Amino acid sequence: MPSSRDMRHLLCAAPSGRLADATTLADPLAKPLTSAAAALPAPTAPRVPVARSLKEELAARVRADRFGRLLGSSSCGRMVTYDDELRAHNERLRAAAGIRPGDRVLDIGCGAGQTTRDAARAAAPGDVLGIDVSGPMLERARELTPAERLDNVTYERGDAQDHRFASEQFDFAISRFGVMFFSDLVVAFANIARALRPGARLVALVWQRREDNPWAVAIDGALRLPGQPPTPPEGADPFSLGDPAAAEGILERAGFHDVRVDDVDEPVFYGNDTAAALEWVRGFQHVDAALARLDPGARESALRRLREMLAAHHDADRGVVMRSRAWLISARRR
Ligand SMILES: C[S@@+](CC[C@H](N)C(=O)[O-])C[C@H]1O[C@@H](n2cnc3c(N)ncnc32)[C@H](O)[C@@H]1O
Repeated sequence: MPSSRDMRHLLCAAPSGRLADATTLADPLAKPLTSAAAALPAPTAPRVPVARSLKEELAARVRADRFGRLLGSSSCGRMVTYDDELRAHNERLRAAAGIRPGDRVLDIGCGAGQTTRDAARAAAPGDVLGIDVSGPMLERARELTPAERLDNVTYERGDAQDHRFASEQFDFAISRFGVMFFSDLVVAFANIARALRPGARLVALVWQRREDNPWAVAIDGALRLPGQPPTPPEGADPFSLGDPAAAEGILERAGFHDVRVDDVDEPVFYGNDTAAALEWVRGFQHVDAALARLDPGARESALRRLREMLAAHHDADRGVVMRSRAWLISARRR
């Protein structure tokens, strides 16, 4: 069972992701990778048509493992959860989605499933499918669901970019920060569009540009020495849909129309006090990676700067909160 710190899937909200070496992963997806490679025909064997190349297959599995591995590798007592962090955003998503009784809903990158379960309550007697690449996240989602007495939720593990959904089966696709990590955004949204019936709605929260997100700018600033240039982002980009015109173009090319991109200016919550917030932020994937690259002295200094920055955002009533900027994207399947 994943610990509560395993739920630090705000790792994936972090400004950059580190690609794990899939062959060293404890995650079950690592094994098929090895066997998929072993099962490849020898170079002299006749070529057979395959749905996707080995390179694409490896890339998909590495993407999948990045989340699973990081979620599965940490352990610590519960302090903050991603649901706590995004409480204000969740209300905005819920209100915008407007799911009605009888709707069939797809939750993309559902994580531990808070939005999936909210949608299930609104959609009953309709139903909700939550899809995520991360086994540990889905394990947690499956643990939480029975306590909420919901019997109209299923979870499936898969990469929403190329998962074989039954076509035209959903009235809604929703996502809370789960649609920015695709390797090919147009291909992924076209795959999602195929799963929606014509006229169905997509409603998704995504981060605005990194530079427009005060939480990201302040954390990045605290991690580096004054005057040091920013480290180029690695891996999956949580800000990949940050440009609203580009996001609109991507969705239109993928088979959506009536695209709206609305500004969401809500705070993120990092903890009741500075210690809790530091613990939470240290678990962000890019923070963890940046700290790991430093020697012990530099790491201590970076942690001190991070602590000071978080303390400056502490408020006795609200705890440590930082401003954030997201887009609430809504669109209709053509
Ligand atoms: C920032 S987390 C958000 C989780 C959840 N939506 C929530 O708000 O609690 C992003 C989630 O997207 C999932 N994810 C990333 N890429 C994905 C993909 N290609 N297909 C399905 N899920 C993906 C991650 O495993 C992770 O759980």
